[in-house]
Amino acid sequence: MIDLSGRVAVVTGAASGIGAASAATLAAQGAKVVLADINVDGATEQAEKIAAGGGTALAVETDVRVEEQVARVLARAVEVYGRLDVLHNNAAAMDLAGVDPGITELDLKVWEGTLATNARGPLLGCKHAVPLMLRSGGGSIINTSSISSQVGELTMTAYGAAKAALSQITRAVAAQWGKQGIRCNAVAPGLVLSPSGLGLPREIIDLYIRHSLTPYVGEPQDIANLVAFLASDDARYITAQTINIDGGLVAHNPIQVELVELAQAQQA
Ligand SMILES: NC(=O)c1ccc[n+]([C@@H]2O[C@H](COP(=O)([O-])OP(=O)(O)OC[C@H]3O[C@@H](n4cnc5c(N)ncnc54)[C@H](O)[C@@H]3O)[C@@H](O)[C@H]2O)c1
Repeated sequence: MIDLSGRVAVVTGAASGIGAASAATLAAQGAKVVLADINVDGATEQAEKIAAGGGTALAVETDVRVEEQVARVLARAVEVYGRLDVLHNNAAAMDLAGVDPGITELDLKVWEGTLATNARGPLLGCKHAVPLMLRSGGGSIINTSSISSQVGELTMTAYGAAKAALSQITRAVAAQWGKQGIRCNAVAPGLVLSPSGLGLPREIIDLYIRHSLTPYVGEPQDIANLVAFLASDDARYITAQTINIDGGLVAHNPIQVELVELAQAQQA
């Protein structure tokens, strides 16, 4: 069983979806958790739920686009709980993903806004977390990337580019600070039925299920379980990796569904 007792974690984008599940799971394994989100009411609600369940949590209003705010929330974790061991860089501008089309139609404001939250935000998290983690002998940084960083898509051009940058930032941090005890990994979810995933039309969710190797798509808790493992010493030999958690969506031959249907038609 994963044991995070005595550890202190900061989770960005913790008011909702994957971040909320991650904060609750880290707390359930014994970590003291700081929930950082631009939506402070949502983060406070999640922190109160954790506290009501016997965990230790604190919400801090944070816009990950603003360097001082990122530095401040990490410093606050040390101030209140005495150390920093885990950072889950998870916040993303999901509202911009819906207005992020193909390259020829891409508004540069969407490009810049997406990069500012989804790539620069976690970069700032790493920049300011590393010195604090070094004080307690190391730590674990987990970045939420996406399978959109690995495949060409018809839309979400800026989103995919930002997530690809994040996987590279992950390798850079791991290379630069590994010998000092800091591990850095990314998780790359496929479709997850968080509030933003659930916002997709049912037909699109069904397409994801059809093309996954599992008979279902993911829930926030699936990602949170992986984050908690990567945060723990059980994952001590894993660093610099982007770990896909997508029901095998991007790991298999894309014609598989049609091949199965062809074989079935030939047998009929
Ligand atoms: N849901 C999916 O299908 C899916 C798939 C792959 C990757 N992801 C990634 O998972 C992460 C979480 O996504 P989710 O589905 O839980 O989304 P969500 O919309 O439920 O949560 C995103 C959170 O980020 C916060 N946020 C947005 N901008 C912020 C900012 N500037 N500063 C601080 N907080 C900010 C929001 O307030 C919200 O609480 C994101 O990094 C997303 O790219 C999601």
